[in-house]
Order: sequence, then C-alpha cells, then structure tokens
Amino acid sequence: MKMTGNTILVTGGTSGIGRALAEAFHDRGNRVIVTGRRQALLDQITAGRPGLIGMSLDLDDPASLPRLSAEMRARFPELNVLIANAGISRAEDMSAAGWDASDAEAIVETNILGVLRVTAAFLPALKKQPNATIIATSSNLAFVPRADFPTYCASKAFLHSWLQSLRHQLRRIPIEVLELTPPYVQTELTGAAQASDARAMPLAAYIAEVMQLLELRVHPRDEVLVERDRARRWAERDGRYEATFAAMNPN
Ligand SMILES: NC(=O)c1ccc[n+]([C@@H]2O[C@H](COP(=O)([O-])OP(=O)(O)OC[C@H]3O[C@@H](n4cnc5c(N)ncnc54)[C@H](OP(=O)(O)O)[C@@H]3O)[C@@H](O)[C@H]2O)c1
Repeated sequence: MKMTGNTILVTGGTSGIGRALAEAFHDRGNRVIVTGRRQALLDQITAGRPGLIGMSLDLDDPASLPRLSAEMRARFPELNVLIANAGISRAEDMSAAGWDASDAEAIVETNILGVLRVTAAFLPALKKQPNATIIATSSNLAFVPRADFPTYCASKAFLHSWLQSLRHQLRRIPIEVLELTPPYVQTELTGAAQASDARAMPLAAYIAEVMQLLELRVHPRDEVLVERDRARRWAERDGRYEATFAAMNPN
C-alpha cells in the first residue's frame, strides 16, 4: 500500500493495536480518522495532533455506522484506506452448566458482522480511489485455536477465509486487501493484565514490525505476518498442527 498521503479510517482506534497503527500512519503524513465508543479516549488521542480526527462508532448500535458513513462522505470523500480492526475477545466455557451463547453472539456481532458492515459501508467510497486498501485484523489464533476462546478464534478464522474471497473479487477494481494476523500482543483486549504480560509481544515492537513489512511490501499472499506469527501460521502445512494445538491447550 501507499504509505503516505492517504485518508485512513481506523475502527477500534481508541486503544491497543488500532490506536498505535493510527498514530504510526499519522506520523508518516496521513490523515487518520480514529473511531470507537469511548469519547474521552477519542478526545485524548486527537488532542494536539492536527490531521488525526476522532469520530464515534459503536458497531453494536445499528444507527451508528450509517451516521459515521454519512459524515465521512460529507467530510472525507477522498477516503482511500479502511482499517477494520475493532474486535472483542471473551473466554467461554461450554462445559459449564450455565453456558449460553450470549458471549458468542457478541463476538460474532463485533468481530464478524462489524467487519462486514464496515466494509459494505465504505466500499463504494474506496472503489472511486486509485490507491485503495482495506486492512482487516484477524489473529494468528485463526490458524490454531485456543479452546478457551472458541468463538473468538473461530471469528478470526472466518475473517481469514472471507478476506481471501474479498481480495479475489476486488482484484480487477483494484483494491488491495491485507490481513493483519497479530500474535499475542500487549494490549487490554482480554483485560488490564494482558498489557503487561511478559509472554505477549510489546505493542510498539509489533507496530514497528508491521509498518516495516508494509513499507517494504513484504507480505506474501497479502498477509502481514510478523516473525512471531509464522510458526502458528504454518503449523498445519509443516506437520506441527497436533503438537501446536496440544501445547496451546494442555490437558
Ligand atoms: N492484542 C492481541 O493479543 C491481539 C492478537 C490478535 C488479534 N488481535 C485483534 O486486534 C484488534 C484490536 O485489539 P487490541 O488488542 O488492540 O485490543 P483493544 O485495545 O481492546 O482494542 C479493541 C478496539 O475495538 C474497539 N471496539 C470494541 N468493540 C467495539 C464496538 N462494539 N464498536 C466500536 N468499536 C469497538 C475498542 O474501542 P471502544 O471500546 O472505544 O469502542 C478498541 O478501540 C482486535 O480485532 C483483536 O481481536 C489482538
């Protein structure tokens, strides 16, 4: 993708990977619109950064995306990059007596339908631009699941498959479709403890590696895989799937 002079919309831009990507692209001379539900964070992130704009988006509120999309059409018709990054993660215990599908439904709503709806909302604008890119954040748990996060992992496997079809269908338009598949990264995705978990990749290191791969266009199959992603990505191909699954899901 073009690395500078873009107008970029980031979902899930109030914290973690989305916020860090928004700031990295802003630092490289892009206009960046960050979105999320937490208005106080939108205000904090954009303060003192001209060209970084905050707009409210709640993917669980059916009125919110049409509102954002109308405002984007009016204010930023030149939008040429969409980063569909918003996501939630919840553990689920299907062996528990009281298990129901409510967490699964919330994950499907945000992680799957949220990405599809945001793509549908902004595709018409992207199609008009000569250098358009869609980036969506899946996970390296798309390739080997952690069984205590069943719907989360499955939502990312869905995205991995869906993005291949989207990429193929858009090949003649052309809109570049990239997939970010982060490893375990220090953010608050599963709660505050994750942000300081020594087993997780530091956020700044993850973003620096991603920006370098994008800059150098080192993303075969349009998957932006950092070094830490690669073992899990290729576990099945390399005959390590059962061992990898067992290591991630001890008895
Ligand atoms: N960190 C990791 O280890 C890891 C690994 C692989 C993949 N990922 C993926 O990376 C993406 C970003 O996660 P993160 O780790 O950076 O965690 P995070 O800091 O919790 O970021 C999640 C973002 O999504 C937004 N969001 C959640 N629900 C939303 C909704 N209903 N409507 C609009 N925005 C919503 C949040 O904003 P508001 O709360 O302000 O709405 C927040 O900005 C996710 O898709 C996640 O699955 C993360």
